[in-house]
Amino acid sequence: MLTMAPSLDADRLRSQFGGRLQEQASLAPYTAARLGGPADFLLTIRTSEELAVTAGWLWAAGTTFTILGGGSNVLISDDGVRGVVLLNRARQVVFEPGEEPPLVSAESGANFGALARQAASKGLAGLAWAAGIPGTVGGAVVGNAGAHGGDMAGNLLVAEILHRVEGRQRWRVERLDYAYRHSRLKRRSQEAVVLSATLKLEHSSARLIKEEMDRYLAFRRRTQPPGASMGSMFKNPVDDFAGRLIDAAGLKGTRIGGAQISPLHGNFFLNHGEATATDVLALIHLARTRVLETFGVKLELEIELLGDWASDEK
Ligand code: EPU
Repeated sequence: MLTMAPSLDADRLRSQFGGRLQEQASLAPYTAARLGGPADFLLTIRTSEELAVTAGWLWAAGTTFTILGGGSNVLISDDGVRGVVLLNRARQVVFEPGEEPPLVSAESGANFGALARQAASKGLAGLAWAAGIPGTVGGAVVGNAGAHGGDMAGNLLVAEILHRVEGRQRWRVERLDYAYRHSRLKRRSQEAVVLSATLKLEHSSARLIKEEMDRYLAFRRRTQPPGASMGSMFKNPVDDFAGRLIDAAGLKGTRIGGAQISPLHGNFFLNHGEATATDVLALIHLARTRVLETFGVKLELEIELLGDWASDEK
């Protein structure tokens, strides 16, 4: 998520982007949780070049913008998002199996799980852990997505970044300051956009990788609920698990409005079709308060809250 300067000149946007610009566009269909209010303006981006040019233009115009990738790790406010939302559909993926190590370069809007499955079918290992990840490569670079012992920090070679002041740059993995579900780009107005990423792979056999991937996917199916959710709501605290704590606090299955803490896994919050972001936020508050009272542990959100929230709501 990137939030820029507050001014917005609607007429200038309309004349710059013409028919591509949607106004008061519902964002719920672009989120995995299927909820949230509208964007003032929505632009769909098809290539990383277009992303760079558009971000550069919006920065120069002093226009607030937010990038939405797979929408799998965000809760969008019921009041929606002010300014421009860039829906990142820059999805080109290029494999370079002849390099040592073999590489894959992907634009930031590419679906990360699909990329992992493609790599597997080519006998390129290293990303089996990511097969079930619903978000984009860009989201995974920013949030250091991980599962089953793997994470983006372990695979990334270099990310191509557009920095507001310094322009286009290639950041080697060290520069992202990766930690568990954290990077230098996360939750700060870093004024930088991920354009693409190059990941390191390994030669293996398609059959072996598929076996590993199938084990992970089966684990997910067994332990994580299907349906509309944001994935893991909270980060795991040091030496414990958010899901275990919420479970032990007796909250699994709790409903507020149309939102429910999954009866299967305490760290997944579901939208049963009619949930609002306000319902989900109330469940977040409840889980945090109850876990703090019961175990003295302060849960930290893994997801990002996007859009307009009254400060006391957050
Ligand atoms: N547990 C409970 N009750 C629950 C849920 C879990 O007691 O309701 C216990 C489990 O029995 C287990 C422990 O808590 O002993 C951890 O649970 P699990 O194995 O399901 O993993 P997790 O820590 O909840 C993490 C990632 C997931 C990733 C899985 C598999 C975080 C916050 N979550 O889940 O990532 O898929 O491991 O590797 O690190 C995501 O980030 O969105 C995500 C889904």
